[in-house]
Amino acid sequence: MSGLEVTGLVTDFENRTTSIRALHGVSFGVGESEVVGIVGESGSGKSTVVRSIIKLLMPPGKVTEGHVDFYGASLLDLKERELRRIRGKEIGFVAQNPFSALNPVLRIEKQFDNIAKAHGAPRGQELHRRAVDLLEATGVKDAERVIRGYAHELSGGMAQRVVIAMALFLNPRLVIADEPTTALDLTVQRQVLDTLTRLTVDSGRSMLIVTHDLGVVANYCDRVLVMYQGRIVEQGPVSRVFVTPEHEYTASLLDSVVRPEESPAGGTRNIATVGARPKVMEY
Ligand SMILES: Nc1ncnc2c1ncn2[C@@H]1O[C@H](COP(=O)(O)OP(=O)(O)OP(=O)(O)O)[C@@H](O)[C@H]1O
Ligand SMILES: [Mg+2]
Repeated sequence: MSGLEVTGLVTDFENRTTSIRALHGVSFGVGESEVVGIVGESGSGKSTVVRSIIKLLMPPGKVTEGHVDFYGASLLDLKERELRRIRGKEIGFVAQNPFSALNPVLRIEKQFDNIAKAHGAPRGQELHRRAVDLLEATGVKDAERVIRGYAHELSGGMAQRVVIAMALFLNPRLVIADEPTTALDLTVQRQVLDTLTRLTVDSGRSMLIVTHDLGVVANYCDRVLVMYQGRIVEQGPVSRVFVTPEHEYTASLLDSVVRPEESPAGGTRNIATVGARPKVMEY
């Protein structure tokens, strides 16, 4: 399978006194045009997985075993300089905390410009237009004003949208998004996820999305990885995993979601099959 292939990932957080193994051999793939969701309780290792892949672990995190292949490039073996060429251009990343990804002392516009500059993309009016269009597509109404401002002027939801627009800016082959819509209210969540899907998967690109919302998985993902205590305990097509979960933890996760008796029709992908299981919430 071309795309992203992760094999046997082991990640430790180790300092002088303690060593915590956060991932115990995680393997999965994300194919072209595929949306893969990662679910699992807090602390199960979802962020550690996505950050391990692109070597953006919080210190003292370190990948100690495993292999990450991205269209033939072995990401874990690349030098930081080479990785920087891939991050942003080939892989767009939306961090769980959007403010951590924004520079507090640069105007938003300058940050878009820096992304283009770092990757040798042509700059100027056309890129300004693209940045504004992307901001509008993620639901930023006064994009021309926002782009001239600073991160501290943004609400959490606005910052999240700016970071998503930045991740999509250079049209990456893969978007990795860690809880990209948690700070957004429901209607905006849907708009942002529709935009993310339209701009990635619909044009042959792929997405790896961490979410605690099974409705998001049901509506937007082709396959799902279920994490529990640093391991993927189950993975497969959403239509199979949500209907006939094989692992006890997946079943309990699904059972914990209360679904209204009569849920409105809707959803863009997979929901028809997923809805066959009565307890899955519709999005
Ligand atoms: N900076 C750190 N220092 C030490 N241990 C860490 C650090 N970050 C993560 N860990 C360890 O890795 C585990 C997984 O953390 P991670 O942030 O990947 O979980 P998560 O599934 O993303 O949780 P959440 O849903 O709350 O975002 C934690 O339980 C913790 O043991
Ligand atoms: Mg996390």
